Amino acid sequence: MDELQIRLFTADDAPAVSRLIIRNLTEVLVSAYGETAMQALAAHYRPVDVVTRARDRYKIVSELHGEIVGTASLAGDRVSDLFVHVDHHAAGIGSELLSAVEGEAWRRGMNEVYLMAGLPARGFYENQGYVVVAPELHDVDGYPIELLRMTKALPDTIGRDAPA
Ligand SMILES: CC(C)(COP(=O)(O)OP(=O)(O)OC[C@H]1O[C@@H](n2cnc3c(N)ncnc32)[C@H](O)[C@@H]1OP(=O)(O)O)[C@@H](O)C(=O)NCCC(=O)NCCS
Repeated sequence: MDELQIRLFTADDAPAVSRLIIRNLTEVLVSAYGETAMQALAAHYRPVDVVTRARDRYKIVSELHGEIVGTASLAGDRVSDLFVHVDHHAAGIGSELLSAVEGEAWRRGMNEVYLMAGLPARGFYENQGYVVVAPELHDVDGYPIELLRMTKALPDTIGRDAPA
């Protein structure tokens, strides 16, 4: 997608990023985890939470015609918070964001990254070369959420064009 731009997150992006993530939780991931658990998780993605968490990680957004359509982060060797606007799923945005954070990890000298995948995203990550290590149960305000720990060895050929 030519018009798609990936850039570093700024605090001004927080309201749009918050809305985008909450829509994914309550409209997509709800089918796997249920309404109550997703409402509990959504409460951790207010704009202020997004800004606070961004401080200790590399965080990027993708923009299409001035609208934020995706986000992803890298915290240490963990890829996290990969979400694409629900109106733009399956358009290649998620894979571009994932390549960008993997490129940044590689630039920082890492040979492998890991992530905690939501169950519906397993196929997407497997397509991108991740393998399941083990399921893990996470507690969100008393609600158990099963995630899959997945890892990927970064090839030497990985892109170096992540926003710095
Ligand atoms: C999972 C997600 C990040 C993928 O981003 P996306 O922009 O929709 O995916 P892309 O268009 O880049 O997909 C790339 C490939 O993966 C496939 N794919 C996308 N989502 C998939 C899924 N859930 N399962 C299996 N394959 C999937 C696409 O069909 C495409 O295949 P192709 O290259 O053969 O055409 C996005 O759909 C999303 O935000 N989902 C809801 C939230 C979520 O699960 N986030 C991850 C939390 S761990």
